[in-house]
Amino acid sequence: MSKYIAVAGKGGAGKTTFTALMLRQMVKNSKKISILAVDADPNANLSEALGLSVSATISEILDDTRNPKAIPPGMTKDIYVEYKLQQSLVESPDIDLLVMGGPQGAGCYCYANDLLRRHLENLGKNYDFVAVDTEAGLEHISRRTVPHVDLMFVVSDSSVRGIRSAGRVYELIKSLKSEIGRVYLIVTKTEPGSISVLAEEIAQTGLELIGEIPLDPLVVKQDLAGRPIFDLPDEALSVQAVDIIVKKAGLLT
Ligand SMILES: Nc1ncnc2c1ncn2[C@@H]1O[C@H](COP(=O)(O)OP(=O)(O)OP(=O)(O)O)[C@@H](O)[C@H]1O
Ligand SMILES: [Mg+2]
Repeated sequence: MSKYIAVAGKGGAGKTTFTALMLRQMVKNSKKISILAVDADPNANLSEALGLSVSATISEILDDTRNPKAIPPGMTKDIYVEYKLQQSLVESPDIDLLVMGGPQGAGCYCYANDLLRRHLENLGKNYDFVAVDTEAGLEHISRRTVPHVDLMFVVSDSSVRGIRSAGRVYELIKSLKSEIGRVYLIVTKTEPGSISVLAEEIAQTGLELIGEIPLDPLVVKQDLAGRPIFDLPDEALSVQAVDIIVKKAGLLT
Protein backbone atom coordinates (compact mmCIF):
# COMPACT_ATOMS: atom_id res chain seq x y z
CA MET A 1 0.00 0.00 0.00
CA SER A 2 1.29 3.48 -0.74
CA LYS A 3 2.60 5.54 2.11
CA TYR A 4 1.32 9.11 2.42
CA ILE A 5 3.71 11.79 3.65
CA ALA A 6 2.61 15.36 4.33
CA VAL A 7 4.77 18.42 4.94
CA ALA A 8 3.14 21.28 6.84
CA GLY A 9 4.20 24.51 8.54
CA LYS A 10 3.73 28.24 8.40
CA GLY A 11 4.45 30.34 5.31
CA GLY A 12 8.11 30.57 4.41
CA ALA A 13 9.20 28.00 7.01
CA GLY A 14 11.02 25.90 4.41
CA LYS A 15 8.37 23.28 3.51
CA THR A 16 8.93 23.26 -0.22
CA THR A 17 12.72 23.23 0.14
CA PHE A 18 12.47 20.29 2.52
CA THR A 19 9.94 18.45 0.34
CA ALA A 20 12.16 18.79 -2.74
CA LEU A 21 15.24 17.60 -0.86
CA MET A 22 13.35 14.75 0.81
CA LEU A 23 12.22 13.54 -2.62
CA ARG A 24 15.78 13.98 -3.93
CA GLN A 25 17.16 11.71 -1.21
CA MET A 26 14.39 9.15 -1.57
CA VAL A 27 15.07 8.90 -5.30
CA LYS A 28 18.87 8.89 -5.03
CA ASN A 29 18.99 6.30 -2.24
CA SER A 30 16.51 3.83 -3.67
CA LYS A 31 17.10 1.46 -6.56
CA LYS A 32 13.51 1.57 -7.62
CA ILE A 33 10.91 3.89 -6.22
CA SER A 34 7.75 5.52 -7.51
CA ILE A 35 6.61 8.78 -6.01
CA LEU A 36 3.62 11.00 -6.58
CA ALA A 37 4.36 14.53 -5.39
CA VAL A 38 1.31 16.67 -4.69
CA ASP A 39 1.57 20.44 -4.43
CA ALA A 40 -1.38 21.33 -2.23
CA ASP A 41 -0.24 24.88 -1.49
CA PRO A 42 -2.48 27.41 -3.27
CA ASN A 43 0.67 29.39 -4.04
CA ALA A 44 2.26 26.41 -5.73
CA ASN A 45 5.99 26.27 -6.39
CA LEU A 46 7.02 22.70 -5.72
CA SER A 47 7.31 22.16 -9.48
CA GLU A 48 10.05 24.78 -9.67
CA ALA A 49 11.87 23.27 -6.71
CA LEU A 50 11.74 19.89 -8.48
CA GLY A 51 12.55 21.31 -11.91
CA LEU A 52 9.30 20.11 -13.51
CA SER A 53 6.94 22.17 -15.63
CA VAL A 54 3.21 22.13 -15.11
CA SER A 55 0.60 22.58 -17.84
CA ALA A 56 -2.58 22.90 -15.78
CA THR A 57 -3.48 22.85 -12.12
CA ILE A 58 -6.46 20.89 -10.84
CA SER A 59 -8.26 24.11 -9.93
CA GLU A 60 -7.88 25.36 -13.49
CA ILE A 61 -9.27 22.11 -14.84
CA LEU A 62 -12.24 22.19 -12.48
CA ASP A 63 -12.88 25.82 -13.43
CA ASP A 64 -12.79 25.02 -17.15
CA THR A 65 -15.15 22.12 -16.80
CA ARG A 66 -17.74 24.37 -15.12
CA ASN A 67 -18.51 25.67 -18.58
CA PRO A 68 -20.93 23.14 -20.14
CA LYS A 69 -19.70 24.12 -23.61
CA ALA A 70 -16.21 22.83 -22.75
CA ILE A 71 -17.52 19.27 -22.49
CA PRO A 72 -17.39 17.44 -25.82
CA PRO A 73 -20.75 16.17 -27.07
CA GLY A 74 -21.43 12.59 -26.06
CA MET A 75 -19.16 12.74 -23.00
CA THR A 76 -20.48 12.98 -19.45
CA LYS A 77 -19.03 15.68 -17.22
CA ASP A 78 -17.51 13.08 -14.89
CA ILE A 79 -15.71 11.29 -17.67
CA TYR A 80 -14.49 14.56 -19.14
CA VAL A 81 -13.15 15.77 -15.76
CA GLU A 82 -11.48 12.40 -15.17
CA TYR A 83 -9.81 12.61 -18.58
CA LYS A 84 -8.60 16.18 -17.97
CA LEU A 85 -7.29 15.24 -14.51
CA GLN A 86 -5.30 12.39 -16.00
CA GLN A 87 -3.79 14.82 -18.48
CA SER A 88 -2.75 17.21 -15.71
CA LEU A 89 -0.30 14.71 -14.20
CA VAL A 90 3.30 15.79 -14.82
CA GLU A 91 5.36 12.68 -15.43
CA SER A 92 9.11 12.25 -14.95
CA PRO A 93 11.21 9.09 -14.52
CA ASP A 94 11.09 8.89 -10.71
CA ILE A 95 8.55 11.48 -9.61
CA ASP A 96 5.16 12.42 -10.98
CA LEU A 97 3.56 15.66 -9.88
CA LEU A 98 0.03 16.86 -9.35
CA VAL A 99 -0.61 20.54 -8.66
CA MET A 100 -3.82 21.45 -6.84
CA GLY A 101 -3.70 25.20 -7.55
CA GLY A 102 -5.64 28.03 -5.96
CA PRO A 103 -8.89 27.69 -4.01
CA GLN A 104 -12.17 27.05 -5.78
CA GLY A 105 -14.68 29.86 -6.07
CA ALA A 106 -17.24 30.51 -3.36
CA GLY A 107 -19.98 27.99 -2.71
CA CYS A 108 -20.05 24.29 -2.11
CA TYR A 109 -16.81 22.39 -2.34
CA CYS A 110 -18.54 19.05 -2.29
CA TYR A 111 -18.28 18.21 -5.97
CA ALA A 112 -14.61 19.21 -6.24
CA ASN A 113 -13.81 17.54 -2.93
CA ASP A 114 -15.39 14.22 -3.77
CA LEU A 115 -13.80 14.24 -7.17
CA LEU A 116 -10.33 15.09 -5.91
CA ARG A 117 -10.56 12.54 -3.13
CA ARG A 118 -11.50 9.78 -5.54
CA HIS A 119 -8.89 10.87 -8.06
CA LEU A 120 -6.09 11.04 -5.52
CA GLU A 121 -7.09 7.74 -3.94
CA ASN A 122 -7.09 5.94 -7.29
CA LEU A 123 -3.95 7.62 -8.57
CA GLY A 124 -2.08 7.18 -5.28
CA LYS A 125 -2.44 3.39 -5.49
CA ASN A 126 0.09 3.33 -8.34
CA TYR A 127 2.94 4.71 -6.23
CA ASP A 128 5.14 3.61 -3.33
CA PHE A 129 4.86 7.06 -1.80
CA VAL A 130 2.56 10.05 -2.10
CA ALA A 131 4.22 13.22 -0.76
CA VAL A 132 2.08 16.30 -0.16
CA ASP A 133 3.53 19.80 0.21
CA THR A 134 0.71 21.52 2.04
CA GLU A 135 0.04 24.84 3.78
CA ALA A 136 -0.36 25.78 7.44
CA GLY A 137 -4.18 25.62 7.33
CA LEU A 138 -4.05 21.97 6.21
CA GLU A 139 -7.06 22.57 3.93
CA HIS A 140 -6.68 19.42 1.87
CA ILE A 141 -6.18 17.27 4.92
CA SER A 142 -9.12 18.73 6.84
CA ARG A 143 -11.33 18.43 3.76
CA ARG A 144 -10.08 14.86 3.41
CA THR A 145 -8.94 15.28 -0.19
CA VAL A 146 -5.78 13.61 1.08
CA PRO A 147 -7.28 10.32 2.27
CA HIS A 148 -4.88 9.64 5.14
CA VAL A 149 -1.40 10.60 6.30
CA ASP A 150 1.12 8.03 7.53
CA LEU A 151 3.85 10.50 8.27
CA MET A 152 3.61 14.23 8.84
CA PHE A 153 6.53 16.62 9.01
CA VAL A 154 5.83 19.98 10.64
CA VAL A 155 8.49 22.41 9.47
CA SER A 156 9.51 25.46 11.49
CA ASP A 157 12.11 28.07 10.80
CA SER A 158 14.67 28.77 13.46
CA SER A 159 12.70 31.18 15.64
CA VAL A 160 10.53 31.12 18.75
CA ARG A 161 7.59 32.37 16.69
CA GLY A 162 8.19 29.60 14.19
CA ILE A 163 8.23 26.89 16.86
CA ARG A 164 5.05 28.25 18.48
CA SER A 165 3.37 28.26 15.11
CA ALA A 166 4.49 24.65 14.57
CA GLY A 167 2.93 23.87 17.95
CA ARG A 168 -0.38 25.35 16.76
CA VAL A 169 -0.20 23.31 13.55
CA TYR A 170 0.31 20.23 15.74
CA GLU A 171 -2.79 21.12 17.79
CA LEU A 172 -4.73 21.49 14.54
CA ILE A 173 -3.47 18.11 13.34
CA LYS A 174 -4.60 16.45 16.55
CA SER A 175 -8.03 18.05 16.28
CA LEU A 176 -8.63 16.75 12.74
CA LYS A 177 -10.72 13.69 12.23
CA SER A 178 -8.32 12.41 9.56
CA GLU A 179 -6.15 9.42 10.23
CA ILE A 180 -2.67 10.76 10.90
CA GLY A 181 0.21 8.50 11.83
CA ARG A 182 3.56 9.72 13.15
CA VAL A 183 4.21 13.47 13.40
CA TYR A 184 7.71 14.95 13.50
CA LEU A 185 9.15 18.44 13.84
CA ILE A 186 11.92 19.71 11.59
CA VAL A 187 13.67 23.00 12.36
CA THR A 188 15.16 24.66 9.30
CA LYS A 189 17.60 27.48 8.63
CA THR A 190 19.40 26.74 11.89
CA GLU A 191 22.76 28.13 12.93
CA PRO A 192 25.08 26.41 15.39
CA GLY A 193 23.43 26.50 18.81
CA SER A 194 19.93 27.38 17.51
CA ILE A 195 18.41 24.11 18.72
CA SER A 196 19.66 24.45 22.28
CA VAL A 197 18.26 28.00 22.44
CA LEU A 198 14.90 26.74 21.15
CA ALA A 199 14.87 23.50 23.18
CA GLU A 200 12.39 24.67 25.79
CA GLU A 201 9.93 26.04 23.20
CA ILE A 202 10.25 22.81 21.23
CA ALA A 203 9.51 20.74 24.35
CA GLN A 204 6.36 22.80 24.99
CA THR A 205 4.90 21.90 21.60
CA GLY A 206 5.02 18.20 22.45
CA LEU A 207 6.43 17.54 18.97
CA GLU A 208 9.27 15.09 18.44
CA LEU A 209 12.23 16.75 16.75
CA ILE A 210 13.54 14.47 14.01
CA GLY A 211 16.28 16.77 12.75
CA GLU A 212 17.44 20.21 11.77
CA ILE A 213 18.40 21.68 8.42
CA PRO A 214 21.12 24.31 8.65
CA LEU A 215 20.95 27.67 6.95
CA ASP A 216 22.57 26.69 3.68
CA PRO A 217 24.20 29.30 1.42
CA LEU A 218 23.75 26.91 -1.51
CA VAL A 219 19.96 26.94 -1.02
CA VAL A 220 20.01 30.74 -1.06
CA LYS A 221 22.19 30.76 -4.17
CA GLN A 222 20.04 28.19 -5.96
CA ASP A 223 16.83 30.13 -5.23
CA LEU A 224 18.46 33.41 -6.23
CA ALA A 225 19.38 31.94 -9.59
CA GLY A 226 15.93 30.33 -10.00
CA ARG A 227 17.46 26.87 -10.26
CA PRO A 228 15.70 23.73 -8.91
CA ILE A 229 16.50 22.86 -5.28
CA PHE A 230 16.38 19.22 -6.42
CA ASP A 231 19.61 19.84 -8.35
CA LEU A 232 21.72 20.83 -5.32
CA PRO A 233 24.94 18.80 -5.02
CA ASP A 234 25.41 15.97 -2.51
CA GLU A 235 27.87 18.11 -0.53
CA ALA A 236 25.27 20.79 0.24
CA LEU A 237 24.71 21.08 4.01
CA SER A 238 20.94 20.98 3.52
CA VAL A 239 21.15 17.82 1.39
CA GLN A 240 23.24 16.05 4.01
CA ALA A 241 20.85 17.08 6.78
CA VAL A 242 17.81 15.90 4.86
CA ASP A 243 19.55 12.62 4.06
CA ILE A 244 19.78 11.90 7.79
CA ILE A 245 16.10 12.80 8.31
CA VAL A 246 14.94 10.60 5.42
CA LYS A 247 16.86 7.63 6.83
CA LYS A 248 15.61 8.21 10.38
CA ALA A 249 12.03 8.40 9.13
CA GLY A 250 12.42 5.11 7.23
CA LEU A 251 11.55 6.61 3.86
CA LEU A 252 13.72 4.39 1.71
CA THR A 253 12.48 1.34 -0.18
N1 LIG B 1 18.01 25.37 4.75
C1 LIG B 1 17.85 26.57 4.18
N2 LIG B 1 18.90 27.42 4.08
C2 LIG B 1 18.74 28.66 3.54
N3 LIG B 1 17.59 29.13 3.07
C3 LIG B 1 16.52 28.33 3.13
C4 LIG B 1 16.58 27.02 3.69
N4 LIG B 1 15.34 26.47 3.63
C5 LIG B 1 14.54 27.40 3.04
N5 LIG B 1 15.24 28.52 2.75
C6 LIG B 1 14.73 29.75 2.13
O1 LIG B 1 13.56 30.16 2.84
C7 LIG B 1 12.57 30.64 1.93
C8 LIG B 1 11.29 29.87 2.13
O2 LIG B 1 11.53 28.50 1.82
P1 LIG B 1 10.39 27.58 1.18
O3 LIG B 1 9.86 28.17 -0.05
O4 LIG B 1 10.95 26.21 1.16
O5 LIG B 1 9.32 27.70 2.35
P2 LIG B 1 7.77 27.29 2.32
O6 LIG B 1 7.45 26.92 3.72
O7 LIG B 1 7.53 26.28 1.27
O8 LIG B 1 7.12 28.66 1.93
P3 LIG B 1 5.61 28.92 1.39
O9 LIG B 1 4.77 28.93 2.61
O10 LIG B 1 5.73 30.26 0.76
O11 LIG B 1 5.28 27.82 0.46
C9 LIG B 1 13.16 30.50 0.55
O12 LIG B 1 13.65 31.74 0.13
C10 LIG B 1 14.29 29.49 0.69
O13 LIG B 1 15.35 29.76 -0.18
MG1 LIG C 1 6.14 26.23 -0.32
